[in-house]
Amino acid sequence: MNNTNSIEIFKKAKKYIPGGVNSPVRAFQSVKREAPIFIKKALGSKLWDEDGNEYIDFICSWGPMILGHNFENVIQGVREAIELGSSYGLPTKLEAELAELIVKCCPSMDKVRLTTSGTEATMSAVRLARAYTNRNKILKFQGCYHGHSDSLLVKSGSGLLTEGYQDSNGITEGVLKDTLTIPFGDIKNLKEILRTREIACLIMEVIPANMGVIKTNVEFLKEIREICNSTGTILIFDEVITGFRISLGGAQEYFGVIPDITTIGKIIGGGYPVGAFGGKSEIMELVAPVGRVYHAGTLSGNPISVRAGFETINYLYKNKNLIYKELEIKTNYITEEIKKLIKKYEISACVNSIGSLFTIFFTEKKLVENLEDALTSNIDIYAEYFNIMLDEGIVIPPSQFEANFISLAHKDEDIFKYLKAAEKAFKFISKKKGKD
Ligand SMILES: Cc1ncc(COP(=O)(O)O)c(C=O)c1O
Repeated sequence: MNNTNSIEIFKKAKKYIPGGVNSPVRAFQSVKREAPIFIKKALGSKLWDEDGNEYIDFICSWGPMILGHNFENVIQGVREAIELGSSYGLPTKLEAELAELIVKCCPSMDKVRLTTSGTEATMSAVRLARAYTNRNKILKFQGCYHGHSDSLLVKSGSGLLTEGYQDSNGITEGVLKDTLTIPFGDIKNLKEILRTREIACLIMEVIPANMGVIKTNVEFLKEIREICNSTGTILIFDEVITGFRISLGGAQEYFGVIPDITTIGKIIGGGYPVGAFGGKSEIMELVAPVGRVYHAGTLSGNPISVRAGFETINYLYKNKNLIYKELEIKTNYITEEIKKLIKKYEISACVNSIGSLFTIFFTEKKLVENLEDALTSNIDIYAEYFNIMLDEGIVIPPSQFEANFISLAHKDEDIFKYLKAAEKAFKFISKKKGKD
């Protein structure tokens, strides 16, 4: 595969952008490549890079592209919206309609406020929880990623894990001491902390997907709901990935456990910058201009993002009975076939999947249930897997600690191509293991 243009572009990008990218995982550093692929265009399940190489895309912009790239309804809507103007700094009718649609789908929400990113949504949700409870400390699970606001960059997942650390520099001690963390699934410690400390909120990915995909136990969620109720702790479900992906009403609908505040993003912008936080009216009424929890944004509710999000959610809403089943069937098929290949080639790996998300962990462990387990993965083998897949025209996350995303645009032939490439990679890894 010829990557000369991408390599040249990366040289220039590094001159003007730190690390040459605007989000760290994109640098392909942890998969040991000279340069990332620079993308020129996308359609359906495919991406094309600046060297003209074609790929099947299993990153899907890290979640937003559930309908595939350049989905007709979305592009048509965006074209119409652009003709009318880019941004007004004044409200539009479609913001109310998108909010109505989101509230209709998301069981925990009476009201919702749009932001420009998932990071702003979680940051604002935490502020709101602190204001509502009049408490300072917050609790999160190790390896969960909730964007890059200061108080949430503690024992974090996603790009930090990829680069081999979990806490960001540049955060004051005061902020750090107010964020407590425990391993995912540790109900004993969770109960102890919530009962003995004044905690404003527990913020969690219902299905962690930023240390690779981790499966959630519904009993665990129910216990969390109960303990939050009895201790007056606000329960925030960060559904920036799972919202509108695991089901129309997100993981909360899937598991039947309802949080006090929910954060969403990605899919609700149809590939354009967006985020949102919402919840019970009693809590949301604290947000300015009704209350004094400040949240604002020059581009919050941007008309192009709102139109793209509206078209995406409207399509999901109208076809919900088909789409989520189809996504799950495709994901089950691909992951079951991967498991067979893992067995056939005696690879040390296990697969976690739920809905349309999956991760192959290259570990000796049979089960990956939390960050400690995920960190047993062999990232050198992952890098080998990634590079063979890429050379075969399959783009998977350039990090062991991320999710693969299946979209509606993935056709059977895309899945077969993935599996063919995976077999080649496993064969190589297995042979190499034999030699070592
Ligand atoms: C669960 C979760 N929360 C929050 C965020 C932050 O969203 P954004 O990247 O839009 O700021 C992400 C991003 O991947 C995420 O996965």
